[in-house]
Amino acid sequence: MKNFEDYSDASRKEGLSLDSKVVHGASGIDPVTGAISFPIYQAATYRHPSITDRTGYNYSRCINPTREELERTMCILEEGARAFAVNSGMAAIMLVLSILKPGDHVIMSDDVYGGTYRAVKEVLLPMGVENDSIDLSDLQRFKETIRPTTKMVLVETPTNPMMKVADIAAIADIAHRNGALVVVDNTFLTPYFQRPLTLGADIVVHSGTKYLGGHNDVVAGIVVLREPDMGQWYEIRNNVNGAGLGPMDSWLVLRGLKTLALRMRRHNENAIKVAEWLRRHPKVEKVYFTGFDDHPGREVTRRQATGFGGTLSFRVDSMETVNRILERVRLITFAESLGGVESLITHPVSRTHTEIAESERLSLGITDTLLRISVGIEDGDDIIADLENALG
Ligand SMILES: Cc1ncc(COP(=O)(O)O)c(C=O)c1O
Repeated sequence: MKNFEDYSDASRKEGLSLDSKVVHGASGIDPVTGAISFPIYQAATYRHPSITDRTGYNYSRCINPTREELERTMCILEEGARAFAVNSGMAAIMLVLSILKPGDHVIMSDDVYGGTYRAVKEVLLPMGVENDSIDLSDLQRFKETIRPTTKMVLVETPTNPMMKVADIAAIADIAHRNGALVVVDNTFLTPYFQRPLTLGADIVVHSGTKYLGGHNDVVAGIVVLREPDMGQWYEIRNNVNGAGLGPMDSWLVLRGLKTLALRMRRHNENAIKVAEWLRRHPKVEKVYFTGFDDHPGREVTRRQATGFGGTLSFRVDSMETVNRILERVRLITFAESLGGVESLITHPVSRTHTEIAESERLSLGITDTLLRISVGIEDGDDIIADLENALG
């Protein structure tokens, strides 16, 4: 049997653009048969040739070739040293957060995904970890908040649903001088548009359920580490958690990744169209989209990203309009999640951000009349026509 090492590794992919890297993955092909689609190794355990000979595979909680192919591919795409594919974005975030000890302080974006907020409030705070949630687009505020016990900064950029942009390189610079790790949730932009590890972040996390998988058919999470030395700690922790992504789901993400470049370009193009159109609609009071020239994070976005992604939020004039849109959309579906080929719309207050206290929500701008849309890859004009019809 040909060794996996012979086929894989990043060096073969050096010099390729991301458009090519996503198609070819790490090994890309089956090392045994040459099959063009990397196989789903649906096995729990592996035969050992003898007591001294090892294949490198022992038990699928610890290692599985299909999951490994996905992990290696994510290392190539995010330019990291080590990756872990786990069974949800939340499992990825919990794996990363599990390095914190009582007395450690973690700073995070103030309008992070509701599940991340819940993890910190419900699990970490009771354990004795301390937390400040702040607007990380405000570097002055960040400098004032960081303290000697700050061990981690958890950045979502752009944030969800308010689309605030944080300067990853500047945050990493300040955090590293303080000895803190910088973790970036790169779910919204994906490595196609933004590569935080190249900007100084230490760890990237993803909900692979979103753009990486891309088809609303799999729940997955990814962690990518910039340096290999942290890998051993996380490998042990990951093995103990036992939350490694199953072979079939790993394959679904691998298959989704092959079209990541095409999809992200189309999401981006459609989101620009939809955002511009919404902005002109009389029932829409405000649109939150990083692609606007007057977005406060425009400069930073230009510096650290090559696109805006496919997700945007907008505020309408009344609850009546909210209800009308959610009930009347036909092409767009009223459902949670984002990043799939189908356009989805959701109501953050009643769906994704229920955990956040009302006063906190309102101060962030997450009002009852805010909607978030994940613009899919359908014809942009059809998406607009659906919104036009729903808005009446
Ligand atoms: C930015 C972000 N991070 C993490 C998650 C959690 O991912 P999952 O639902 O795959 O657990 C989500 C889910 O919506 C998200 O939007």
